[in-house]
Amino acid sequence: MSAEQDLVKVMKQEVGKAAAARVKSGSIVGLGTGSTTAYAIQFLGDRLKSGEIKDIQGIPTSFQAEVLAKQYGIPLTTLDATDRIDIAIDGADEVDPQKNLIKGGGAAHTREKIVDSLAELFIVVVDSGKLVDRLGSTFLLPVEVLPMAIAPVTRAIEKLGGKPELRMGIRKAGPVITDQGNMVIDVKFDRIDDPAGLEKTLNNIPGVLENGLFVGVTDLVLVGEVKDGQAIVREF
Ligand code: A5P
Repeated sequence: MSAEQDLVKVMKQEVGKAAAARVKSGSIVGLGTGSTTAYAIQFLGDRLKSGEIKDIQGIPTSFQAEVLAKQYGIPLTTLDATDRIDIAIDGADEVDPQKNLIKGGGAAHTREKIVDSLAELFIVVVDSGKLVDRLGSTFLLPVEVLPMAIAPVTRAIEKLGGKPELRMGIRKAGPVITDQGNMVIDVKFDRIDDPAGLEKTLNNIPGVLENGLFVGVTDLVLVGEVKDGQAIVREF
């Protein structure tokens, strides 16, 4: 691992730890997806194991989150069994100054949006490389699509001015298949001037399940950054 990769890892660990520290006993916790949230799940498990907190239950946003929760001893529940989520912790691919997000780098944005938007407190955990002035500047926008609608949805997105690409698997021939059995189209838009409008427009295309724009959902962003060679956590 290069020195730069090492620093990114430490930033992710520190924000994960800072977010896990905010979970109180008795909470129902939305468990996000991705490499940063994975550290939050690990630290949450450590706090539970040490007795520092008790009686928490997790609601996973993906198969990955479910596996990690089981590995670190966090009991799980479902949205059928509970009518509240006290706190959700999740990563993001881009964060703009209004705390709007692009998510879905791990193809988990559909379940993430359900869980994160239900949470009383939604905390986003990112390293400083994820902060952007305008959404869509560094990351393509993921859109989850029912397989039988890939062709018409692709055409509809092109009509909106987007450049769609079907997400392909790595070490798997063919497209990425989501936890729900769907496919993901990653879309390049030259500018996303109206994230709230685009979020609705995309979700109105028949066959689209959910897109990765999270507008007005975030309560708090914890940012891991490096200052004087040390990883620190800043809130915004
Ligand atoms: C999963 O679909 C995504 O929304 C992730 O939360 C996002 O890609 C952040 O992942 P990392 O923490 O691994 O960058």
